[in-house]
Amino acid sequence: MRILSIESSCDETAAAVVEDGRRVLSSVVASQVEEHRLYGGVVPEIASRRHAESISSVVREALLQADLTLADIDALSVTFAPGLIGALLVGVNFAKGLSLATGKPLIPVHHLRSHIAANYISHQELKPPFLCLVVSGGHSHIVMVEDYTKMRVIGATRDDAAGEAFDKAARTMGMPYPGGIELDKVAELGDDKAYTLPHPTVAGSPYDFSFSGLKTAVINLLHNAEQKGEEICKEDLCASFRRAVVDCLTTNLFKAAEDLGVKTIVAAGGVSANRLLRRELERLCAEKGYELYVPELSLCGDNAAMVGSQGYYEFLSGNIAQTDLNAVATLPIDYK
Ligand code: KG4
Ligand code: ZN
Repeated sequence: MRILSIESSCDETAAAVVEDGRRVLSSVVASQVEEHRLYGGVVPEIASRRHAESISSVVREALLQADLTLADIDALSVTFAPGLIGALLVGVNFAKGLSLATGKPLIPVHHLRSHIAANYISHQELKPPFLCLVVSGGHSHIVMVEDYTKMRVIGATRDDAAGEAFDKAARTMGMPYPGGIELDKVAELGDDKAYTLPHPTVAGSPYDFSFSGLKTAVINLLHNAEQKGEEICKEDLCASFRRAVVDCLTTNLFKAAEDLGVKTIVAAGGVSANRLLRRELERLCAEKGYELYVPELSLCGDNAAMVGSQGYYEFLSGNIAQTDLNAVATLPIDYK
């Protein structure tokens, strides 16, 4: 079954053709990041406009690269939630139009579920159940993936998402948006024990995260140093910050795995590209005898191939959109 998929939830306009949920025939991503960088973050109105301008050509390019026409496509899938509402609407309306014009079924896909599905492309043998750490710019979740479309949220962030925390800390250190990627690179050169930063926990909720205090600690540290005229070693601060975030993520994840008796760990979302997180997951999984799956780097960030993969499993479970499908800005991953 060949699915033409569309993603426009944030600042990437993407389309792909995926066969049977696992084989990527084409994947096109048009990033707007250069433009948003001027403003230090994603400007929703600009994102919507750019999606509207590029979606036709991105979809055409995906078909072209797969050497297929619409006649060869069996179904369409689109990210409908969660995300920037104006951005999502562009993809949803385009996909609805295509579905109406061609008579092909339209499959609604939850953005975070698709991040998890990136792993089905990178690892053909991977099947639920498994415990997944979903870490992106907008979300940080520990999710028990019971089946392809059946999930249970075990833990979540109470404030900032991990990616958001990386981006905000990077911004205070003068790095351009999205700073998480740059912070990760600079951290490779630093000593992660040089600065003492808090490792926040949420009282009574061992699987939940809280990153806003960590971000504030970095801001305070920088202000204090400035007032005292002290030099800050950027490499060391990046390394110490990254260590604190990764320790929080892995501590809760492995506690959940132990408590639930799960032996397969999966990571997903933009932050799963983080070098230290990948190394620590590998080290801890090897130590505990767990199996580990992380997406290949090209599938960690937003793309449409993962929407085609999850779309296939949503289709198999009977999740087909009606003509009244709408975009939804916030929606839990375990929605019914
Ligand atoms: O999943 P994603 O592409 O988009 C959302 O759904 O939000 O995640 C983007 C986030 C950004 O906050 C970005 O800074 C972060 O992922 N990110 C990283 C790394 N690569 C991307 N954070 C830390 N280290 C990285 N290597
Ligand atoms: Zn994403």
